[in-house]
Amino acid sequence: MKKVRANITAIGMHVPEKRVTNDDLTKLVDTSDEWIRDRTGISERRIIGQDEANSDLSVKAIEDALSRTNYTPEDIDLIIVTTVTPDMMFPSTACVIQEKIGASKAWGFDLSGACSGFLFGLATASQFIETGRHQRVLVVGTDVMSSIIDFEDRSTCVLFGDGSGAALLEPTEEENVGILDALLGCDGAGGKHLYMPAGGSLNPATSETVKRKMHYVYQDGRNVFKFAVKLMVETSARILERNGLTTEELTLYVPHQANLRIIKSSMDRLKLRPDQVLINIDRYANTTAGTIPIGLTEAHLSGRLKKGDHVLLVSFGAGFTWGGVLLRWGIEPPVN
Ligand code: ACO
Repeated sequence: MKKVRANITAIGMHVPEKRVTNDDLTKLVDTSDEWIRDRTGISERRIIGQDEANSDLSVKAIEDALSRTNYTPEDIDLIIVTTVTPDMMFPSTACVIQEKIGASKAWGFDLSGACSGFLFGLATASQFIETGRHQRVLVVGTDVMSSIIDFEDRSTCVLFGDGSGAALLEPTEEENVGILDALLGCDGAGGKHLYMPAGGSLNPATSETVKRKMHYVYQDGRNVFKFAVKLMVETSARILERNGLTTEELTLYVPHQANLRIIKSSMDRLKLRPDQVLINIDRYANTTAGTIPIGLTEAHLSGRLKKGDHVLLVSFGAGFTWGGVLLRWGIEPPVN
């Protein structure tokens, strides 16, 4: 019997219309365009409008992905939404999306993996496909970081943006496409370096938690930076090695977009050429679970990928969490 693999058969994205440049942020905090560009590689980010929520961005990303297929939401079996900024604690944003798109036959759930969320989602979805349990699974990587950022804290507010990406996974028996491997990890000891202290059962919301700004992201940037480079490089090297591949054989390396310096350090250590690496942090900043599916969508739409190409997706984020997903691209380039 031939092995069934999960294959990404459609990909889509959506970012809010509102652009916030580095110069815009200089009106809020003591920073400069030069500092932000030099230290992070970010020029601008997109921020959600009033009366919009995570599910609204996600619905548009899903619609974008499905617009390039013959499917309707009724054909979807499962929706996995990876996010740390759901519309609300419950019901899950997956349920909200299921209703909004009219995916009447789907069930769904939210998955919290921070910046590694989309890769954790892909690995989870693959299991449902490989076992034959489901035929069409949507994995959404999406975050509205502006909802949990303190726009008076210059050390975090310059780093993040809002955005969504969505992938459709289907089974395939074709030899030269599909998800080949996933190498995932977490280390809770890193939790203290990147977290949001209140809003959960440990520190429920009170006027005191609001006053002490405990509903915002706290980050020890230097420590996160150090572990990000180390674990992204180690994960990349290990997953390639155990699949008998070298970096030379990769068409595209899609790293989580947290800081251009993290990406460049990883590129140097892995000896990757610039044409092998997806970088769009300059335009969107860090959209947490959104960065990788947004990057993949742009790579696909610009014709950078063809069917059968080896692609490595690599992430690092709060938890700490990290992951690598190795795949052979499953979609023909768009015909222009
Ligand atoms: N503008 C101007 N100066 C600033 C700013 C700013 N926006 N932010 C910090 N500074 C200052 C600091 O106050 C400090 O000043 P001091 O020396 O007088 O104290 C100086 O710049 C250097 O600060 P560092 O924190 O050492 O700056 P660094 O070069 O490390 O850059 C950064 C900080 C950009 C946060 C970096 O550490 C980083 O990118 N870390 C990793 C982020 C990341 O990967 N996050 C993970 C994913 S997020 C998730 O999972 C949700």
